[in-house]
Amino acid sequence: MAPVKHSKVDGRKSTNNYCSTVTLVAFVALCLVGVWMMTSSSVVPLQSLGTTQNNKNEVRTVITKEFDTEETTDENSPSDDGTSTPDNSNSKQFEDNPGDLPEDATKGGDSSSNSSQQDKNNSKEDTEMNQEEKVTTANENETKDAESKAEEEKEEKQDKVDAPSTETLPAGAQSELLSETSVQNGSFSTQATESKNEKDMHKSPESEKNNGYHWKLCNVTAGPDFIPCLDNLQAIRSLRTTKHYEHRERHCPENPPTCLVPLPEGYQRPIEWPTSREKIWYHNVPHTKLAELKGHQNWVKVTGEFLTFPGGGTQFKHGALHYIDFIQEIVPDIGWGKRSRVILDVGCGVASFGGFLFDRDVLTMSLAPKDEHEAQVQFALERGIPALSAVMGTQRLPFPGRVFDIVHCARCRVPWHIEGGKLLLELNRLLRPGGFFVWSATPIYQKLPEDVGIMEAMTKLTKAMCWEVKGVGKDKVNKVGVAIYQKPMSNECYEARSQNEPPLCKASDDANAAWKVPLQACMHEVPVAAPVRGSKWPEQWPSRVEKSPYWLLSSQVGVYGKSAPEDFTADFEHWKRVVTKSYMNGLGINWSNVRNVMDMRAIYGGFAAALKDMNVWVMNVVSVDSPDTLPIIYERGLFGIYHDWCESFSTYPRSYDLLHADHLFSKIKNKCNMTALVAEVDRILRPEGKLIVRDTVETIDEVENMLRSMNWEVRLTYSKDKEGLLCVQKSMWRPVEVETIPYAVV
Ligand SMILES: *[C@@H]1O[C@H](CO)[C@@H](O)[C@H](O)[C@H]1NC(C)=O
Ligand SMILES: *[C@@H]1O[C@H](CO)[C@@H](O)[C@H](O)[C@H]1NC(C)=O
Ligand SMILES: *[C@@H]1O[C@H](CO)[C@@H](O)[C@H](O)[C@H]1NC(C)=O
Ligand SMILES: *[C@@H]1O[C@H](CO)[C@@H](O)[C@H](O)[C@H]1NC(C)=O
Ligand SMILES: *[C@@H]1O[C@H](CO)[C@@H](O)[C@H](O)[C@H]1NC(C)=O
Ligand SMILES: *[C@@H]1O[C@H](CO)[C@@H](O)[C@H](O)[C@H]1NC(C)=O
Ligand SMILES: *[C@@H]1O[C@H](CO)[C@@H](O)[C@H](O)[C@H]1NC(C)=O
Repeated sequence: MAPVKHSKVDGRKSTNNYCSTVTLVAFVALCLVGVWMMTSSSVVPLQSLGTTQNNKNEVRTVITKEFDTEETTDENSPSDDGTSTPDNSNSKQFEDNPGDLPEDATKGGDSSSNSSQQDKNNSKEDTEMNQEEKVTTANENETKDAESKAEEEKEEKQDKVDAPSTETLPAGAQSELLSETSVQNGSFSTQATESKNEKDMHKSPESEKNNGYHWKLCNVTAGPDFIPCLDNLQAIRSLRTTKHYEHRERHCPENPPTCLVPLPEGYQRPIEWPTSREKIWYHNVPHTKLAELKGHQNWVKVTGEFLTFPGGGTQFKHGALHYIDFIQEIVPDIGWGKRSRVILDVGCGVASFGGFLFDRDVLTMSLAPKDEHEAQVQFALERGIPALSAVMGTQRLPFPGRVFDIVHCARCRVPWHIEGGKLLLELNRLLRPGGFFVWSATPIYQKLPEDVGIMEAMTKLTKAMCWEVKGVGKDKVNKVGVAIYQKPMSNECYEARSQNEPPLCKASDDANAAWKVPLQACMHEVPVAAPVRGSKWPEQWPSRVEKSPYWLLSSQVGVYGKSAPEDFTADFEHWKRVVTKSYMNGLGINWSNVRNVMDMRAIYGGFAAALKDMNVWVMNVVSVDSPDTLPIIYERGLFGIYHDWCESFSTYPRSYDLLHADHLFSKIKNKCNMTALVAEVDRILRPEGKLIVRDTVETIDEVENMLRSMNWEVRLTYSKDKEGLLCVQKSMWRPVEVETIPYAVV
């Protein structure tokens, strides 16, 4: 057991070992772009929505026909599996089509309440929605009142659902590339089946390299573990102090790199979940130091070609599950997997705690700073457990306020009590009112003078913060003590304090502001007005995933232009459809190889919600310049982070099996450097991992060309009108030529 060393501020330096002394935090947030959505969010009358929806229906039929032809062609093509089910696939395709998106509706509606025709003149967005033009006639029909529209909408949905039940894209299985390219000819453009072209292209990857893209391998000190914003050595060298772990915070280069990160020697496809929780390939994460350091603690061992995590790989000698259940014994209100669903683990080790909480239906965001000697986050991700490189340093963590049901910290050597409790106050910001802080550390159960001193300081601080001690206990099996505190659900205690210390935050301080915001040593008042987020605990899991949060009011306009709760539901239905009808079978993705998933531009988290029963977890990234829907994602028992995709994400290379980019690239294209984003996608995606892109045809073409120039394998492209869908698989290919990145070399 590690003694807690930092009773002083400076103590931090001595402790940087594992998890964190003070660390944690920071980072990330992501992003996305969502422009059209944003645009639409402003004022969209219900009516227009109805209209658009109808349009879609219309369009759909037409398309189906066209598809038939295509299919036929396909079947004829020799390479095909021959498995296509024409009708089904048609409709399915349709399902997938962006035209379906609620967003589209928005866009159409966007322009005004006037029905959709003017949209054409409306800037880029309409391009996406050309269908409207064609469908115009239908619109005329459409002058109905909102109610009937709503009904129609429902019908529409049902239609889709009822539609063909077997959704197998012809491309289905693996090898076939079915590319459907829309000819932008008329709105229901023909879609040319381009399998032949595809094949040709595959045969000659060489020629593709000359697409105008020229990739190089990054030459950086961090080698295959390069994280551009955390390995900016030049920026780190110029820091005046590292007392607060500034050197583990994000320092993004001005221009994000466009080189590709090398593979570690001997890299192979990661072991699948859940086996990966117990063992991973050593060569994928060749950090012997961690094994040496932690070996005696029973965390991790080198066993032949594998790294293994004996005893579940926790600091808890007898396994995490015992510890997890023990916590609930102390405080039954915790209700793992029911009341408590989303937790933050700030003392994460190799994230075994989070890995085992999956067994209790709990989703855990684990944080640890990047440390060149102990790539704990990398271990966690390789094991299939969610984790982020972040440090509790000088800035807020990139999460909204009041979103975590529980914050956990085991053996974390974070000096919570120093500097007015600044770091603990950050956890207080992140906790839901009524949420628990579970703290497992030596001061709780050891009587060394240092421990006693820390415990006294913590007791004083938590009392001043109005945290109530709900239970203290010692897990005799694992020989660790735990103290469990609860954040208040009202402001009474704050008001009754004799001193305003720690102070309450100013009313102007937004608890959700978390992108590059310095830590504030203050506490936000607890919201108590009925329809305000935080005034009530969310529904129990799993029903909370489906229900529109109580604080989303119908007077609010959602991202897609309907009332917020309707929008929420439409989004959920939409993604359920797309996922079941298309992504599950239609894209040639073998889901048993998928574990770590990122929705690079999440709105309400509908995509993640649709995957809830799969053996995967989804990191939802909400762009810092998109409508802030991240609190909604947490409210439904999912998790995510803020980020700006003009910068690199705070994760290791090869972290994710599947990336989902819904209208991300087109946003970035207008904002910063798309080549850099493609390089970033390459960095965080595992070799043989998949990327699904939904975007404008124009953007898809561009992205596709870039990916092909990196020898990625196109599994499917499909487009209708101006919207397209692309599914690609990353290869093991790496460029030969090298580019040295000056700020990232010693
Ligand atoms: C629709 O827009 C046209 C021209 O933009 C305008 O003349 C017409 O009155 C509008 N109709 C409605 C219902 O707003
Ligand atoms: C729409 O824009 C086109 C050119 O962009 C213009 O010719 C046309 O008159 C515009 N239509 C309307 C209704 O504004
Ligand atoms: C208008 O709606 C009616 C019934 O809802 C339908 O029969 C008719 O074909 C529609 N007209 C157009 C132009 O879509
Ligand atoms: C539309 O497509 C048809 C058939 O593919 C083609 O003959 C025609 O030239 C196209 N028209 C335009 C404007 O592209
Ligand atoms: C990589 O960068 C280092 C440091 O600048 C340099 O010494 C080395 O030659 C570079 N390697 C290659 C292959 O360019
Ligand atoms: C999917 O992957 C698993 C494990 O890699 C394999 O056993 C299975 O056969 C694959 N399924 C398909 C349809 O290829
Ligand atoms: C993106 O960055 C690369 C490398 O710095 C540069 O070559 C390219 O021109 C940039 N593209 C744009 C659109 O700025």
